[in-house]
Amino acid sequence: MSPIAFQQNLLNWFDQSGRKDLPWQHPATAYRVWISEIMLQQTQVVTVIPYFNKFVQQYPDIQALANAPLDEVLSLWAGLGYYARARNLHKTAIIINQAKHFPDSLEKLVALPGIGLSTAGAILSIAFNKSQAILDGNVRRVLARFQAIQGWTGGSEVNKQLWEISTQYTPTTRVADYTQAIMDLGATLCTRAKPKCTVCPLQSDCLALQLKQVHELPTPKPR
Ligand code: ADE
Ligand code: SF4
Repeated sequence: MSPIAFQQNLLNWFDQSGRKDLPWQHPATAYRVWISEIMLQQTQVVTVIPYFNKFVQQYPDIQALANAPLDEVLSLWAGLGYYARARNLHKTAIIINQAKHFPDSLEKLVALPGIGLSTAGAILSIAFNKSQAILDGNVRRVLARFQAIQGWTGGSEVNKQLWEISTQYTPTTRVADYTQAIMDLGATLCTRAKPKCTVCPLQSDCLALQLKQVHELPTPKPR
């Protein structure tokens, strides 16, 4: 399937069935998208929603977060786990607050504590509508299945291949919707245990489906 067709199928599905009422989508400012993406790194959407709402109510902007005591930030984080995320969030807020405006390049974003390549791609695409690929757990699974990529997706060769595919498929228009769409597809249809291939917008060209390897892919970590 050409990148154009892939994008069109995904975006049409998103317009019909994608998630458009997540709290960080209204408004999708860089600050709010950043907070949500950090929370979503290791935590599911349903769990994140009330934490996100409480967090942005307490700290509506970078300045409020930068000026807050770390202890208070950590107590708002209590229950989400992986507390390094909250410490890095606070550190990064102080850096961005001093810089005066939110970084909008890959280079600047990945230099900040707690922001890796995929989180930077999510912020650039969702908040700035810039054409930048992401590769989180959901997208890894969708792409590994769609292209029937064999081998553990954490391995360096497979990882590199998946980044290339993700970059090829990332559009230059409607990037924010596209990024949300491919994450939503992984979270709601192309799930690990019960993929709903019969209603998937990519089913006509999905290699894993053709090869009857949907349940074997992505290949688990070797042990
Ligand atoms: N997981 C990571 N980022 C997400 C987002 N923006 N929406 C839903 N799930 C996500
Ligand atoms: Fe995933 Fe099935 Fe869609 Fe392929 S057809 S992308 S395995 S949900």
